[in-house]
Amino acid sequence: MSKIRLGVNIDHVATVRNARGESYPSPLRAAILAEKKGADSITIHLREDRRHINENDLKKIKSKLKIPLNLEIAATEEMLRIAMNNKPSFICIVPEKRQEITTEGGLKLNYKRKLLKKIINKLKKNKSRVSLFIEPSLKDIKDSKLLNADCVEIHTGKLCRLINERKSYKDELNRIRKAVNLGNLLGLEIHAGHGLTYKSAKILSKIKGIKEFNIGHFLIGESIYIGLGKSIENFKKIIKR
Ligand code: PXP
Repeated sequence: MSKIRLGVNIDHVATVRNARGESYPSPLRAAILAEKKGADSITIHLREDRRHINENDLKKIKSKLKIPLNLEIAATEEMLRIAMNNKPSFICIVPEKRQEITTEGGLKLNYKRKLLKKIINKLKKNKSRVSLFIEPSLKDIKDSKLLNADCVEIHTGKLCRLINERKSYKDELNRIRKAVNLGNLLGLEIHAGHGLTYKSAKILSKIKGIKEFNIGHFLIGESIYIGLGKSIENFKKIIKR
């Protein structure tokens, strides 16, 4: 039986803090609590516009955490410099548009490919595990391998939306299954994330070969009602194989 790791994304603790320009709630306190309650890693997305997590959060969380820190960054020179200086254990490269509410789709692997390749190689040399956030497409899986990524994180947003809206999701689930199988065959570690709820995490956890889920918005939302610890505990139970 293989265990699926749970990465807890705490960006929205910073979103609430920043809404009032105060120093609380503290993302560091949330990260430490999540670690204590069984998170396997902590994910933070340092956005170009710093709308939630900032560099000070990154430094503090990195210095206090015992479990791996997964830093999500856009493929830019600025983010490369920050990632090289802070050396998080895990890095996930994501697309970023300033106007988007959240990360809307996977990376376009042929856009600024040279820069992407350079960033991946530098980060790997710096001893960070590098993941690419991609759509569940066979081409993107093959391209990620060619780009020398260690892992891919499959964007599950479309699947989750179909499930939430009670629409047929079988085709999208199959697309994800095929991408996972090919990724495993090529020796990539496969992760999944975006939009996951209890229901979609349960459905996806049945696909063998996914090693890690990264979950934020729903998990942090749930913790308003039941607490962060219980929310993590619930997800851990759901994704247990
Ligand atoms: N994985 C990646 C790469 C993301 O960009 C995000 C959103 O920041 C997530 C996972 C988490 O998505 P959600 O907050 O919808 O659970």
